[in-house]
Amino acid sequence: MRIVFLGPPGAGKGTQAVETCESLRIPHISTGNLLREEMAKGSRLGKTAKGYIEKGQLVPDGLVVDIVAKTIKSASFRKGYLLDGFPRNLSQARALDKVQSVAGLPGLDLVVYFDVPDRAVVPRLTGRRVCRKCGMNYHVSRDRETVTGVCGKCGGEIYHRSDDTKETVVNRLRVYHQQTAPLLQHYRRLGLLVSVRAERDIGAVSREVGGVIRRMAGSAAHAAVRRPARVRMALPGKKQARQR
Ligand code: AP5
Repeated sequence: MRIVFLGPPGAGKGTQAVETCESLRIPHISTGNLLREEMAKGSRLGKTAKGYIEKGQLVPDGLVVDIVAKTIKSASFRKGYLLDGFPRNLSQARALDKVQSVAGLPGLDLVVYFDVPDRAVVPRLTGRRVCRKCGMNYHVSRDRETVTGVCGKCGGEIYHRSDDTKETVVNRLRVYHQQTAPLLQHYRRLGLLVSVRAERDIGAVSREVGGVIRRMAGSAAHAAVRRPARVRMALPGKKQARQR
């Protein structure tokens, strides 16, 4: 299954992606994480990306499309993947179609839109703390790990993302509305978009996402069962026609 999680910063895409990928046994591709890995390595790409990320702007399309293309062409991604934070504008959406088709991969099955108002995401992001080692998310309002500074899952160091300041979050939201939100109409027209109400608590959002995925998996399985049946019925007909 090939899925995109779409929505504003702080909508909960990354949180829900972890559970969805575990249940579907597909890899999680977060362009934000891939870019932050490059920043941590101090690579040329990481140094370029840093300047954009810290201002809350999009990293140039060519750079991001390149890392996504390299990732999804590798063998472990052939059975499916979940893209989180990509595509982020129409040009990236078109590039994704092209990359999939050149690699001989099927197109997207589903785009899940995390519908949440701006007023809900600002406190989520400014209070977020992340484990440097395993990427686990914490929040200052509920998690004691944000006081100890040590990840409860892996013992890694907990840090405050440099783009989770109020000023940068406001800019990320502005960029989202200008450049990413038009993708909703694009994927709605293609019949791929399903919305989830992402302002509710994590458990409620998770149940809704699970339901959407199960319905999609059910209809995909249904289509797959129907397809061979049509082939089976066609073959004897052809044979009979030739015999006559
Ligand atoms: P990226 O890392 O993708 O950041 P983002 O899209 O802004 O998303 P976030 O990770 O901030 O939020 P999320 O929706 O995943 O929420 P999360 O689950 O973490 O991108 C960073 C930057 O990289 C971009 O600004 C850009 O510069 C660059 N970039 C990335 N992709 C790019 C691309 N394709 N093209 C160009 N540039 C690109 O949750 C957030 C917090 O809320 C957590 O604390 C969590 O615990 C909490 N939370 C989650 N769900 C709930 C809930 N239901 N209720 C209460 N709290 C919740």
